[in-house]
Amino acid sequence: MSFENLLVDREGAVAILTLNRPKVLNALNTQTLDELRRAVLELTHDETVRAVVLTGAGEKSFVAGADINELAVQTPTGGREHAIRGQHVLDLIEQMGKPVIAAINGYALGGGCELAMACTIRIAADTAKLGQPEINLGIIPGYAGTQRLARIVGKGRALELLLSGDQISAREAHRLGLVNRVVPAAELLAEAKRLAATLASKAPIAIRYILDAVHQGLEMPFAQAQTFEATLFGLVSGTEDMREGTAAFLEKRTPAFKGQ
Ligand code: COA
Repeated sequence: MSFENLLVDREGAVAILTLNRPKVLNALNTQTLDELRRAVLELTHDETVRAVVLTGAGEKSFVAGADINELAVQTPTGGREHAIRGQHVLDLIEQMGKPVIAAINGYALGGGCELAMACTIRIAADTAKLGQPEINLGIIPGYAGTQRLARIVGKGRALELLLSGDQISAREAHRLGLVNRVVPAAELLAEAKRLAATLASKAPIAIRYILDAVHQGLEMPFAQAQTFEATLFGLVSGTEDMREGTAAFLEKRTPAFKGQ
């Protein structure tokens, strides 16, 4: 896979995606979003990839939002299509069935914050700044930011961030629950790769079912979500990995999961 605005690297079972337009702080233009879509689909279907790290090139920015040059000339119908396209790419990330760790190395604003929120776990450099500044451009988030932010930090906190457009520090984002952890900037990538490698060593089918149970279950009535969970529990009980995991525990050894 080779792209103009996206780097794809592999370290064992972990794929590292780096958004690579540092001159514009890795802003997401149509081409970059499309490259991201293609890379995510490829990695989704590659069974040797068990976890992904997503980050931005350079020291300053994860992603500083959708490309404002494109936004500035958008029509109503074009804007709607743009939002649907962006939402679709972020949905593909959320629905990969493998953990995606956002390594937030700087600005995660607008579409950048939305992109990070579509990831499974967010680790921020202590220098990072997050926010949804669309209101300052006279627009609103269009990559499901109004929805994911409210689900992650709660309605009241989400409304304050969305209406003020304020940039918040990594520490404040951690306090609000928007990021899982904050680490020194120099340690960010190593920390994200370490976590990704740990998750990549877990049973892949169980990982996928946990992701499905949480993401889909949260959108269902509770009783239906419990039935869904029980069905997934039943399915995972038939896997080789379940037999390996339980046998390894009883034999006091480390399990070797195969994803079967
Ligand atoms: N789209 C297009 N270009 C962008 C961009 C975006 N979202 N964010 C930054 N850039 C460009 C700048 O125009 C600038 O280009 P130039 O060198 O040709 O002038 C370059 O990236 C560097 O950004 P600059 O603003 O000079 O850096 P800064 O350190 O002074 O400020 C930010 C950094 C992130 C605070 C500022 O760039 C910013 O507010 N960006 C927009 C954030 C935003 O509103 N995102 C939501 C979009 S919906």
